[in-house]
Amino acid sequence: MEHKTISKAVISRLPRYYRYLGELLEDGVERISSNDLSLRMKVTASQIRQDLNNFGGFGQQGYGYNVKYLYTEIAKILGIDRQHNVIIIGAGNLGQAIANYANFEKRGFIIRGMFDVNPQLIGQVVRGVKIMNLNELEGFLKEHDVQIAALTIPKTEAPAVADRLVKAGIKAIWNFAHTDLVVPEDVVVENVHLSESLMRLSYRVCSMQDEEEKEKAKKES
Ligand code: NAI
Repeated sequence: MEHKTISKAVISRLPRYYRYLGELLEDGVERISSNDLSLRMKVTASQIRQDLNNFGGFGQQGYGYNVKYLYTEIAKILGIDRQHNVIIIGAGNLGQAIANYANFEKRGFIIRGMFDVNPQLIGQVVRGVKIMNLNELEGFLKEHDVQIAALTIPKTEAPAVADRLVKAGIKAIWNFAHTDLVVPEDVVVENVHLSESLMRLSYRVCSMQDEEEKEKAKKES
């Protein structure tokens, strides 16, 4: 599969397709037309056809999409048909919440270890995952084949820890620290910022309220 030819916008929509297709499978649906999928997902059928045509077209004219096949192919494209070993740096509230979320494993993301600098946390076990001293990081990475590191530490600490991770061979960082990391080209960073998402929601709800106020003022005048 040629990953580089697929636009970022399409890739960013694939997890949503994957989720809906998973639900269809659970409901025992074997085939679905782009129109029916469009109604469920509230995106246009033409968008769905365009997106899925990027991969050679999974649909057969007149028959709709084979749900199982499409689900499996999207999993391959997203690389979730294989296992990814993950470590978490920062075993505080957020790090432990991620470790406690069992569903990541179902998607093939296996948490192999957590690291922290707080002596009170080191040695504790969260859902079977041991919290180790950050000093042990490089040694651990030499012995374990880890692909992804989640960074759930303060932003002031994140750049130095990211450097260490890169030097130790980590190629993918799931960054929750509120800072933009500078990494070599062969390292990928996915930033997750819940507060940015919340700000976008705030903008939308405020816009809606403003519109309502305007409508109200119009009616009253
Ligand atoms: P927390 O204070 O509960 O946990 C942070 C942990 O990092 C602590 O256990 C601390 O000992 C550890 N730590 C500090 N320096 C370290 C280092 N150099 N190496 C390893 N561990 C280190 O904080 P919480 O609530 O878990 O948040 C963690 C970070 O994630 C904060 O920077 C926070 O701003 C950020 N955050 C980001 C969110 C997002 O959506 N991106 C949402 C919530 C928090």
